[in-house]
Amino acid sequence: MQRRKMIAGNWKMNGLLEDGVMLAQNFANLVKSNGKPQCEFVLCPPATLLFSIKKVVRGKHIAVGAQDVHFAEKGAHTGDISAPMLKNLGCTYVIVGHSERRADHGETDEIVCKKAAAAHNAGLKTIICIGETLAEREAGQAVEVCRQQIAASVPADSIALNTVIAYEPIWAIGTGKIPTPEDVKAVHAAVRSALEKKMGCAEAGKVRILYGGSVKPSNAGELLNLENVDGALVGGASLNAQDFFDIACNGGCY
Ligand code: 13P
Repeated sequence: MQRRKMIAGNWKMNGLLEDGVMLAQNFANLVKSNGKPQCEFVLCPPATLLFSIKKVVRGKHIAVGAQDVHFAEKGAHTGDISAPMLKNLGCTYVIVGHSERRADHGETDEIVCKKAAAAHNAGLKTIICIGETLAEREAGQAVEVCRQQIAASVPADSIALNTVIAYEPIWAIGTGKIPTPEDVKAVHAAVRSALEKKMGCAEAGKVRILYGGSVKPSNAGELLNLENVDGALVGGASLNAQDFFDIACNGGCY
């Protein structure tokens, strides 16, 4: 099954207007000077920058995604942003269930599932994040935890066209540590089989499963060529246009 790789940058809570626009512009210039990429690029800046970044990358083979969404369509939810609002701004994607939101905001699998369903309803595609803690990894529960998160966080009517999964072991985020190739392969294969249960083999075979957690230009070649690894969700290294671009190059996008 040929799946188009995705390289997505999660800027998290980083970037004022000028820096963010400059970063997107620098990245767009790198993409432009290297021709049409074989992978799909997505930039996920903070909500405050979505509109400006969309203007910068329009027509340049770079999609824009948000980092979170509320599950309600509209209403009395001060400070929140709905899926139709993100769609209206020009977003193609939204990240849901990132471990930082699960930890900082108490987001459960059930909430993540509702958010993803709301995003799909509004015509957005989701990048649904899963991943185990260090304690779960050390207890040998990583595969089972991820299997359960897929079962409970991915809406029943998800299809490959609107759903991307990101496996991000929590202990690998921002730490410089990464799992062994065998461990990455084992979780990605388990995710694929959990998706098969949910949407059938043919559809699950088309879903992209990204790896996230300390992805750098130096390890992208190895990580992105593993079986069932269909791209990367990059945090820290996506804040440098050249590093983010080099991840894509080393990962086989050109
Ligand atoms: P780092 O690449 O900084 O480890 O972050 C990964 C991540 O959380 C992306 O969503």
